[in-house]
Amino acid sequence: MSTIYDLVVIGTGPGGYVCAIRASQLGLKVAVVEKRKTHGGTCLNIGCIPSKALLYASELFDEAGHEFAHLGIKVPTPELDLPGMMKHKTDVVDSNVGGINFLFKKNKIDVFHGIGSIVSKGNVGVQADDGTNQVIETRSIVVATGSDVARLPGIDIDEKVVVSSTGALELDKVPAKLIVVGAGVIGLELGSVWRRLGAEVTVVEYLDRILPGMDLEICKAFQRILTKQGFAFKLGTKVTAVETTASGAKVSLEPAAGGAVETIEADVVLVAIGRVPYTDGLGLEGVGITRDGRGRIEVDAHFQTKVQGIYAIGDVIRGPMLAHKAEDEGIAVAEILAGQHGHVNYDVIPGVVYTMPEVASVGRSEEELKAAGVDYAVGKFNFVANGRAKSQRHTDGFVKVLADKATDRVLGVHILGAGAGEIIHEAAVLMEFGGSAEDLARTCHAHPTLSEAVKEAAMAVDKRAIHM
Ligand code: FAD
Ligand code: NAI
Repeated sequence: MSTIYDLVVIGTGPGGYVCAIRASQLGLKVAVVEKRKTHGGTCLNIGCIPSKALLYASELFDEAGHEFAHLGIKVPTPELDLPGMMKHKTDVVDSNVGGINFLFKKNKIDVFHGIGSIVSKGNVGVQADDGTNQVIETRSIVVATGSDVARLPGIDIDEKVVVSSTGALELDKVPAKLIVVGAGVIGLELGSVWRRLGAEVTVVEYLDRILPGMDLEICKAFQRILTKQGFAFKLGTKVTAVETTASGAKVSLEPAAGGAVETIEADVVLVAIGRVPYTDGLGLEGVGITRDGRGRIEVDAHFQTKVQGIYAIGDVIRGPMLAHKAEDEGIAVAEILAGQHGHVNYDVIPGVVYTMPEVASVGRSEEELKAAGVDYAVGKFNFVANGRAKSQRHTDGFVKVLADKATDRVLGVHILGAGAGEIIHEAAVLMEFGGSAEDLARTCHAHPTLSEAVKEAAMAVDKRAIHM
């Protein structure tokens, strides 16, 4: 008799694999279906992990060239071994995706390789690479098929000259000129990698600011730092055409509001204008699952689609397209399926841009609070007045704490600075517990640490920072 699963998860990115493991921990009989050869999805294979491996290596390369001398370390001018750096990236990816195989075995999760689709409620089809088909029976289905690169109409991504993030993680030489379309997270992270390795980088952004959605004051300061690092920005500008040439590409630009067309040349063009949910060939409509205007699967507060027993999580549904958001949704669904009360607090999802300095944020920005008519108080503290930051020569940036004026409850924390992506979590924990700026200010912080800047920013909400 064939197995009837409690849960079949389609897609083993951070949403899918975490959901499968949590469900198995809770006693459910689980299978996963994955079309890639390796598990871990976008994040582990072509996203978070390879990009952070290259960001780390390129940051050290840059520091060795510019920073070491200031610390009294004499080294010859560092030489780039790009294949060696790419090997580091590949090793990191292999080690991470290999870890998922281990976890699936440990948790007794059955793995089906192939393209999954929903044949009917309770039946998942799997088409293997050799074209053979089978159907797996299950009580519940979780769709966790992630997202794909958003494309510019009429512009072909060949992953050599015109690349998406995937191609930008694989370039076999440093482009002399790189044009990045989109000043979002991918554009600034991967732009940083290639800038540090020697490329001249121009970022073309449709809006009049970088990193839309993040706190504007932080982003303006960040843009000034990136400009010092050698980035050129063309804000309020749209790309109207990209033509590949014998030596690279010609990019036509126009002011977003319309006007004279300008053409600039590049060796490589990175298109990083967002990502779109990936739902191709899943058979959603066949079973009555609906999508919103942006192609996202519609789910209720418990991640269930219009069809009972079929759920969706991660990049394929509403909310920020982030690995940790997908993971937390995966855990929540597994717990719901096991009869528990899993949920995700969307008010406290940190976001980090892993550049140097990093940008990290949790909760609401000043613009969001203004738009919502919330009366708030601001406390800021600059890293230039922090002892640890000085000792590391990482004094760029500041911490900004936004608290409700009446209750003092922390509503948002935004950090521009080295290590911001780690420091932000004390704010996340505080906010998860509904803490106040006073709670943060009265929590003893070890000295000397960068985190002391968070405490001082919280003290500054009440105008009593000590070191500024
Ligand atoms: P995915 O990770 O996309 O996984 C979906 C999986 O489903 C894939 O393995 C796919 O092969 C599989 N699949 C699709 N269709 C089928 C099918 N029909 N049958 C079987 N399998 C199928 N987020 C962060 O939080 N931090 C970062 O630092 C970060 N860096 C990023 C860097 C880059 C360059 C990119 C592109 C993204 C980055 N992200 C980052 C975003 C992050 O990768 C995604 O938010 C996350 O991977 C979403 O997880 P998911 O499980 O929803 O989908
Ligand atoms: P994004 O949404 O962060 O940024 C896209 C940018 O492109 C925006 O600033 C937008 O205004 C601009 N844009 C859109 N159309 C344009 C056009 N025609 N011309 C010029 N500019 C245009 O998307 P991005 O950077 O592609 O990243 C995709 C997703 O991946 C994001 O949702 C992000 O959350 C996730 N990601 C997260 C990372 C992290 O957490 N560190 C790292 C990388 C990606």
